[in-house]
Amino acid sequence: MSDIDVRPPRKTETNGSVEYVPVTKEDVAFVGTGPVPTKPYVDEQWYEDEKEAIFRRVWLHVGRIDEVANPGDFIVREIEAVGVSLLIVRGNDGNLRAFHNVCMHRGTELVCATEGTARSFSCPYHKWTYANTGELRGVPDNGNFFDLDKTKFPLMEVALDVCAGFVFVNLDRHPKQTLREYLGTWADSLEGLNIDVSDVFSEYVYDVDANWKVAYDNFQEIYHGRFVHPRSIGRSTMAPENPFGYPTKYTFREENLHRSKTLWNNPHFTPDGPIEALASELTRAGMAKGPVSGAKRPSTEHYYIFPNITVLSSPLYTFTQTIWPLGPARCRSVIRMYWTGADKNASTRFAREYRMAALLDIHSEDRDIIEAAQKGLSSRALDTVLFQVHEVTCRHFAAAVDRYVTDYRAEVAAKRSGEAL
Ligand code: FES
Ligand SMILES: [Fe+2]
Repeated sequence: MSDIDVRPPRKTETNGSVEYVPVTKEDVAFVGTGPVPTKPYVDEQWYEDEKEAIFRRVWLHVGRIDEVANPGDFIVREIEAVGVSLLIVRGNDGNLRAFHNVCMHRGTELVCATEGTARSFSCPYHKWTYANTGELRGVPDNGNFFDLDKTKFPLMEVALDVCAGFVFVNLDRHPKQTLREYLGTWADSLEGLNIDVSDVFSEYVYDVDANWKVAYDNFQEIYHGRFVHPRSIGRSTMAPENPFGYPTKYTFREENLHRSKTLWNNPHFTPDGPIEALASELTRAGMAKGPVSGAKRPSTEHYYIFPNITVLSSPLYTFTQTIWPLGPARCRSVIRMYWTGADKNASTRFAREYRMAALLDIHSEDRDIIEAAQKGLSSRALDTVLFQVHEVTCRHFAAAVDRYVTDYRAEVAAKRSGEAL
């Protein structure tokens, strides 16, 4: 499997800026050109199948290693779409593991807290107790069970792996690929962010009345920026030579999985007033300590990791947006911006808060339009939608979802016909 780069040749101008050369229809036609069905955005059965085909089978990003840095540190993560609660814990042996947050006696939810530090976990029902490495250690009135061998009932482990400090899990009991195989060169990209040095992040979470893919698509294309975000990002991303602020490069993982785009930075950009200028200056001076400050490359990249992660890496900061399905027309967006070290003084605090406020501003602008898009789609007036050149990311994503759901349905059908024989 290899990657496909779509990158028109460019030249650096005498003033140091890079001329804008648009990506063309011919460049991206291999991803497809026709209308795309709306059914995946509105159909309840499609949503049910996505849960099994995608969210129970692929690697999902659930946290950062700094959330579980020391022995006993744990976080509990709900994967609402599939009704799964995970206990992610660093054992006293130093190893990080994920378990179903389910007691092996009669299935009760084991840990109610969302995070903490513990040497062991006791089920609230009959007090079966597990070490933070998963072994079953204590069973009250053990003698009244029938030949109970405690070594056979550790917590049920879930596949877990880490890339660039991002913790991933896979709910498949036998994942078909390792995390590294799944991410391909996107693993190298994540590691190239220098984000491992980050040990603290800021976060905000908001729910949207839209299918998770409608919300994800919104962040995949910049076509809408000119109309929805003129105030917030217009000046930094658009200029007469590139009035829509279109990206200069796209990269696609073969087999329709992950994708990335390189944003065009407006060489004529000037800050909008003294506060923005000050925040930019503080960030640039390292006050916000984004882990990519002084990054090896000056460009701003969006990495889209299937199924639901966006990583934005700029020379000044890095943030992720993870979109979790909550229902056919509801989802949750988790935004995290990554820093290094605690904010030790008011300047650092200001620079970080400014970055978060600016990001929240952009997402606030998006929220209503995403919900309006869902409302129209849910009316079922349209059977198909159209994607232009710079919505190729949405088209590529739609193809990935379609492939997973189609393969899953074929597998279920084959199993049924096998059983019928
Ligand atoms: S269900 Fe957990 S101890 Fe009984
Ligand atoms: Fe937007």
